[in-house]
Amino acid sequence: MESTMKSLGATTFLLPAPVLLAGSYDPQGKANIMTAAWGGICASQPPAVAVSIQRTRWTYASVLERKAFTISIPSTSQAAQADFAGIRSGSKVDKFASLHWSAVKGEYVDAPYVGECPLVLELALLQSVEIGSHVQFIGEVKDVKVREDCLDEKGRPDVAAIDPLLFAPVTRQYWGIGKLVGKAFSLGLSID
Ligand SMILES: Cc1cc2nc3c(=O)[nH]c(=O)nc-3n(C[C@H](O)[C@H](O)[C@H](O)COP(=O)(O)O)c2cc1C
Repeated sequence: MESTMKSLGATTFLLPAPVLLAGSYDPQGKANIMTAAWGGICASQPPAVAVSIQRTRWTYASVLERKAFTISIPSTSQAAQADFAGIRSGSKVDKFASLHWSAVKGEYVDAPYVGECPLVLELALLQSVEIGSHVQFIGEVKDVKVREDCLDEKGRPDVAAIDPLLFAPVTRQYWGIGKLVGKAFSLGLSID
């Protein structure tokens, strides 16, 4: 039976949003991270991921200056730390020091990542796109790193072990990823 839909209006309620920690070096060379939920994959070749950052963020000029950033993905157990990185500015506090997290220098790009996070992407700035409130930074993925305890016996990323933190816009809640549903490019084959 069809159910009735209620309009919520023109808002950015797309589920789920990832919780990304964008890492950069500020003009003084201090490592910083900021939480960004407006982001995701935007191309396969070159492999590219985008994050949208407001011009008022301390991170904004840092990314433009070094043309590089990282993305560290926190686990659900790191939700409070990720939230902290989204409510404090690197212009005032040293977030790595406050969180007792290690700022590891990127291997391929001039930006730091969070050594304690289970999944990390290193990105070279490819393009920036002005979109109203935000500027979308498109980064070419130069490397992906997975914490060793989050790899399965075949060396593949173990999604359950990574346990990525997710964000729900509008309700402003953090969520986990939930259970495995099935294989992609495969489940649909059973439908004629
Ligand atoms: C869950 C969450 C998601 C956020 N997503 C974004 C985002 O996508 N873009 C953005 O510009 N700010 C976002 N923010 C706000 C920034 O993280 C926040 O302003 C932060 O203090 C900026 O840090 P910085 O000044 O050190 O760069 C988010 C905050 C939270 C808590």
